[in-house]
Amino acid sequence: MAQVTRKSWEAAFAKLEASLKKLSPSKAKDLAALDRLRVALLGRSGTLTELLKSLKDLSIEERRELGPKAQELRAALEAAFDARKTALEAQADDDAAAENALDLTLPPHVPPRGRVHPLTSTLEEMTRILSLMGFSWAEGPLVESDDNNFTKLNIPEHHPARGMFDTFYLKDSPLLMRTHTSPVQIRTMESTRPPLRIISPGRVFRHEAVDATHSAVFHQVEGLYIDKGVSFADLKGTLDVFMQKLFGAKTRTRFRPSYFPFTEPSAEVDVSCLFCESKGCSICKNSGWIELLGAGVVHPNVLSAVGYDPEVWSGFAFGIGVERIAMLRLGVSDIRAFYENDLRFLKQFDENLV
Ligand code: PHE
Repeated sequence: MAQVTRKSWEAAFAKLEASLKKLSPSKAKDLAALDRLRVALLGRSGTLTELLKSLKDLSIEERRELGPKAQELRAALEAAFDARKTALEAQADDDAAAENALDLTLPPHVPPRGRVHPLTSTLEEMTRILSLMGFSWAEGPLVESDDNNFTKLNIPEHHPARGMFDTFYLKDSPLLMRTHTSPVQIRTMESTRPPLRIISPGRVFRHEAVDATHSAVFHQVEGLYIDKGVSFADLKGTLDVFMQKLFGAKTRTRFRPSYFPFTEPSAEVDVSCLFCESKGCSICKNSGWIELLGAGVVHPNVLSAVGYDPEVWSGFAFGIGVERIAMLRLGVSDIRAFYENDLRFLKQFDENLV
């Protein structure tokens, strides 16, 4: 390196100061550029570092005069580097934030809202009314014994009434899929002392050809009331109120004699047509009545089978199809629509949310 003189040092210093007009820290466009500039000026062999080092070749007076100028410049540069660094870092944070920012002008994503299935809302409405009338909830299994589903309900083996139910039997097992909710009558009476008043909603199974009004799997609500002195009149009164609450105050009921092995007398219960006020329409086939459920006075043999004394206790029972009620309430003409999970169908019943 050439001999350092005051003149050459001052020239080099002036050149450095001049270069800083163009290449100052405050103009560095990013952190990398800022760092490169810092190394070039203040690094171990940076321009200013070299100038400071070369002061030692000057006289003591010259050093006293020039040294502070160089130190001052170094302090100013360090401050400028720091300031720019802070600014660039803040800028980088802002940029990242802007990149990740939520665009609040976008329409929000609305998750699809669930609905209560029309069969569920119908079942809930039925059980709500019956629980207000004093019936409590009882449940039984879907797989039943032959005893509970038939024998104790006064349908002994080989009785022709077994033909009323197209039963699914389990393979290599004495069990079957319950064909009605009536076995819950047996289960409840066997585990409870009278009086009792229960409803039992649930799924039942029959080996039926599926069409617009039949399904191999459907739902029933069973009702059972046992007390002293319960008569057919109590059954009539109870079902009258139930039907009026379900279909409207004008609804009337009609009891037609019928046959069930577990009730005597038995009745098929109709309601006045909801669609034509009993004037006659296609839904009631011009009869003014819609067939709805089976009911009757509990047969003494059923009471005896569960250990109740038929001389002391009496009662009534009814069994009612949930799908049938739902079809009438909601104006659905094909039972299969309930099981197909077609949202275009299901979405129509929002107003029936319970
Ligand atoms: N269990 C009968 C059926 O499924 C309905 C019923 C219940 C009838 C209770 C009378 C009494 O057909």
